[in-house]
Amino acid sequence: MRKKIIAGNWKMNQTPMQAKQLCDMLCPQLEHAAADVVFCVPFTDLQTVLDAVQGTDIAVGAQNMHFADQGAYTGEISAPMLKEMGVSYVVLGHSERREYFAETDSAINQKVKQALAYGLTPIVCCGETLEQREANITIEWVRMQLKLDLAGLSEQQAKGVVIAYEPIWAIGTGKTATKEQAQEVCAAIRTVLGEMFGKETAEQIRIQYGGSVNAKNAAELFAMPDIDGGLVGGASLKEEFAQIVRS
Ligand code: 13P
Repeated sequence: MRKKIIAGNWKMNQTPMQAKQLCDMLCPQLEHAAADVVFCVPFTDLQTVLDAVQGTDIAVGAQNMHFADQGAYTGEISAPMLKEMGVSYVVLGHSERREYFAETDSAINQKVKQALAYGLTPIVCCGETLEQREANITIEWVRMQLKLDLAGLSEQQAKGVVIAYEPIWAIGTGKTATKEQAQEVCAAIRTVLGEMFGKETAEQIRIQYGGSVNAKNAAELFAMPDIDGGLVGGASLKEEFAQIVRS
């Protein structure tokens, strides 16, 4: 049985003071959660949030990192920096990073390997645009993303990855994929993971759905056989996140 994992992607929201307030509101409500819970927060909030979740089961993640250990990469943050702080997850290849910061599959692949090398759990994002969905190439597209993003991983390494399927047309739009649409792609993702790493490994990898997840739609999405939780944007900044976790 795969344990569900619900991650909040705060994106570029919350100053450290606001982060503290949000944690103070959410943490007591997330005690004894049946799912793994992760707060993926801006770099500048990491220390505040790590302090705030101390003594709880909530894990903390970053939203990006560089693939090198160190060096002349102005403005970047490395895996060892995150690891030493106590961060345990990192979101990689989010569609916003692919679109606005020209992140390529090959860079994402290097980052995934680097995260695993430092014992960070990568949450690797994939998903299609509306144009791709309408052209009926959703599954081909997502398969290609995963083959590139996870290339060269061992079966053992693959078990340490979380996949987030996030259709771009559903992000921040209030237009959630139906549970059938989300399940169809998550099942196809599990098939490609099986081709890459073997069926047994694929059965152990957790696949999240993301894109306008809210307290109303979470339960039915998370009940689908290949959906093992969610990557939640807007609703992770509100009390609603606790309701989503309870789903
Ligand atoms: P929303 O939940 O705001 O649609 O964002 C989804 C997302 O991009 C999470 O990474």
